[in-house]
Amino acid sequence: MSLLRTKSIERSLADADEPEYQLKRTLSALDLVVFGVGVVIGAGIFTLTGRAAHDVAGPSIVVSFVVAAVCCTLAALCYAEFASTVPVSGSAYTFSYASLGEIFAWIIGWDLVLEMFLGASVVAQGWSAYLGVLLENFGVTIPSAIAYGGVIDLPAVVLVLLLGVLITLGIKESMRVNLVLVALKLFIVLFVIMAGIQFINPANYSPFVPPAAATEHTTGLTQPLLQALLGIEPSAFGVGGIFAGAALVFFAYIGFDVVATTAEETRNPQRDLPIGIIGSLIICTVLYCAVSVVVTGMVSYDKLDPAAALANAFAQHGQDWMATVISAGAVAGLTTVVLTLMIGASRVIFAMSRDHLLPPRLAKVHPTFRTPWVITAVVTGVVAVVAGLTPVGVLEEMVNIGTLSAFLLVSIGVIVLRRTRPDLPRAFRVPWVPVLPILSAVICTYLMINLSVETWLRFLVWLVIGFAIYFAYSRRHSRVAAEVG
Ligand code: ALA
Repeated sequence: MSLLRTKSIERSLADADEPEYQLKRTLSALDLVVFGVGVVIGAGIFTLTGRAAHDVAGPSIVVSFVVAAVCCTLAALCYAEFASTVPVSGSAYTFSYASLGEIFAWIIGWDLVLEMFLGASVVAQGWSAYLGVLLENFGVTIPSAIAYGGVIDLPAVVLVLLLGVLITLGIKESMRVNLVLVALKLFIVLFVIMAGIQFINPANYSPFVPPAAATEHTTGLTQPLLQALLGIEPSAFGVGGIFAGAALVFFAYIGFDVVATTAEETRNPQRDLPIGIIGSLIICTVLYCAVSVVVTGMVSYDKLDPAAALANAFAQHGQDWMATVISAGAVAGLTTVVLTLMIGASRVIFAMSRDHLLPPRLAKVHPTFRTPWVITAVVTGVVAVVAGLTPVGVLEEMVNIGTLSAFLLVSIGVIVLRRTRPDLPRAFRVPWVPVLPILSAVICTYLMINLSVETWLRFLVWLVIGFAIYFAYSRRHSRVAAEVG
């Protein structure tokens, strides 16, 4: 059936070698780990840790981080196998084109665009909010009409435009800026851990798993799909709270998959992509667990500030200057998240346009900078408008559902490609196939149905738009279709 036509791996590799679509191969394994850490550590750890501990998990939030890490590790192994087999730009999109077929590839590409576009816009607004807090500490106030939450979020727009220019100038240049900011961000996270240890009071860890309690907001569109379908009552705290916390802090891990979008700019992708993906995930997991143990030890979970827990925990111990340092770190840290998500979005669209599922004109590479400048300009423009003019900051769950659906399809894709193309050289292999990929798919599905009904409805609207574009344009223009006839 034509919708299920796949694009052979050999074909994907050959397309990536065409001169007009060729990107510059400059990235090393270390660059990729830095890139991964740069995109992963962001709004999640700086804000969600406090909210999740305060609302649903208490000190056992550290277990939630471990559960979310298990989900991400399984997905990361699947990504790593694909990335080492099909080292072509486009991440999960390219992988599923090779294994599951064009229509699935389209859906997954469309989901990744959702994850990265919306993720970049959400985090740009978070950045703007932190900038406001930081500047206030220095006595500078941005007029409310042009600040976070105003008529136009000007700081977010300026940030996105500057990053757009940087990405156009070159991936290596972007990585250099990234390196400096990631170093700063790591320093701040380590600072929280080291400086916070002295304020830990072991009494705050008790009870480690607070007794279960009913949650608010459990009716109508805001209830989790799981509850709407099966009538299962979600609870705060208790063992259920650990899983609810995991669904929430999953956001903090989003981004390691973006490493796979840089395959064509990596010198030795077969070896370096798995190192980049798994290495950044390990670093982030260790740091997240340490931060959550320290913060819930510093302040009793019910007294944590759900909005800015890290800075506030130090303020509660009379360390205001430390709180300022942490806000500054958040501003630096969130910059790299926006940067990397914008790069990821442009690389996925690049791969889709090269396959003519989107207009191929978009995929033109700049003759001097060797970056896909047309797409970068479009991505920059759209992210700037969305971040500047819409209340997108409340849509984190949309980012989660887009990512989880991509994880789900990648996990299934690994099993399919093992059957259809057992002959391909795989520099990295997921152990215990099909058990691990199936487990990965099950956990992703479980976390997805923990998301709210309204998130599902928005997601369905997004998919309907995607299908409309596919049937109106992509299906007929597809390069693979043209060749198959
Ligand atoms: N993982 C990224 C963050 O926490 C999206 O900001």
